[in-house]
Amino acid sequence: MKPSSGAGRPAARSATPRHYLMCPPAHFDVVYSINPWMDPGKPVDPRLAMLQWQRIHDLFTELGHTVDLIEPLPGLPDMVFAANGATVHGGRALAARFRYEERSAEAPAYLSWLTANGFEAQQAAWTNEGQGDFLTAGDLLLAGSGFRTDRRAHAETEEYFGCPVISLTLVNGSYYHLDTALAILDEQTIMYYPEAFTPASQALLRRLYPDAVLATARDAACFGLNAVSDGRHVLLPAGATELTTQLRDRGYETIDLEVSELLRAGGGVKCCTLELHGSPGVASETTRELALALPLQEMISLDEAALPPHQEVAAAPARELPDPVASGGLTIVVTSVASDSHTWNLVYLQLALEELGHQVVNLGACVPDELLISECQRLRPGLAVVSTVNGHGFHDGMRLISRVRACPELASLPVVIGGKLGIAGPSGRAGRDQLRAAGFDAVFEEGTGMSALAALAGQLAAALSAEPAAEVTA
Ligand code: ARG
Repeated sequence: MKPSSGAGRPAARSATPRHYLMCPPAHFDVVYSINPWMDPGKPVDPRLAMLQWQRIHDLFTELGHTVDLIEPLPGLPDMVFAANGATVHGGRALAARFRYEERSAEAPAYLSWLTANGFEAQQAAWTNEGQGDFLTAGDLLLAGSGFRTDRRAHAETEEYFGCPVISLTLVNGSYYHLDTALAILDEQTIMYYPEAFTPASQALLRRLYPDAVLATARDAACFGLNAVSDGRHVLLPAGATELTTQLRDRGYETIDLEVSELLRAGGGVKCCTLELHGSPGVASETTRELALALPLQEMISLDEAALPPHQEVAAAPARELPDPVASGGLTIVVTSVASDSHTWNLVYLQLALEELGHQVVNLGACVPDELLISECQRLRPGLAVVSTVNGHGFHDGMRLISRVRACPELASLPVVIGGKLGIAGPSGRAGRDQLRAAGFDAVFEEGTGMSALAALAGQLAAALSAEPAAEVTA
């Protein structure tokens, strides 16, 4: 939907009835600190906390939703944050396993409530903070990690629910759960604060949700993303003014709620709400297709391997892809080798290179040598990037580059190889030298990160744009 401008009013959205579980803040307090918002030195006002919680509860029922209550237990001051109790998707539940001892006794309470109320449920094997870190987006689950939920819980959840899980990594301690940095507006739409995520996760979100509502740092700091939507009404912490304007422009009805007292524990509207999702809806076709093309394990291992070297990219968050021609980018062919069927490394490289202003032709996995050669002859790219992670990169690479270099028109094409190459030798140096001697212009071994490749592509692009000028003056 296009944002409304002037006279054009956006079409109203439609709400669907929801089923929520909440826990009254009868024992709410801040007596320990497990996130940056919590300061046990500052007293909380339990009456005000109860009033703020009650308002959220009453609004849900006024809007026609079903709200069940779980009994608050003494000694568990964070139990009000019901979202963390479990992930509930398609009528099944995976109860939480909390990171911190202070909250661990909440897990069995939520598990028994769910079982007693007819949900097929079990406790997660890996650290997993429920809907704090797993959000149902149609028939997908968006999953967060970085502070609380263990990455291995993403795979466990994918297997348990049998639905694709998109693994995202959080990087800012103030947004320690996914639901503090991202909210589901409806099956196809999300809103999020990009800077709370790694560059790789930001790139992934942009791809999956090109129409997402993006929050500013101010909106995020008001906890504006800790919101609950029924598809039409969006209940969110007060103060996120730019966010509410954007939401209204898109036809959502926003309802601001005062949550100051709950925020002292790092909680807001969504934290207080565990949605008991029944049969899932459907994500948009593009989102779903992309999600299905990304095997979770590859997504996880690449994001993990890429994390430290990718900090440079973090400094320049790009929301829109630059125009490759205008930005003086290269045409880059990205490919794997014939024996390697991994794809996510290629998708990731494509995203990263495109963001740097290059135009990428991704040949995909299991590419026969002949195909790479014919495509390079046809496209005349400025660079070819061979990425392989199956451990046979050395042997495949040696064969491939000798064939490429045997074609006279490709003799000077810049070609680099990287990934998990399986090069023998303690430092891999002998292997690297052999690959270079055979004709690769650079060899990026596992752990090198993107910066070296980005720098090389930048140099090649600069050299290319300088070329015509040199010809004129010659
Ligand atoms: N004090 C709680 C904690 O740090 C707040 C939990 C907020 N819940 C959420 N779904 N984000 O665990």
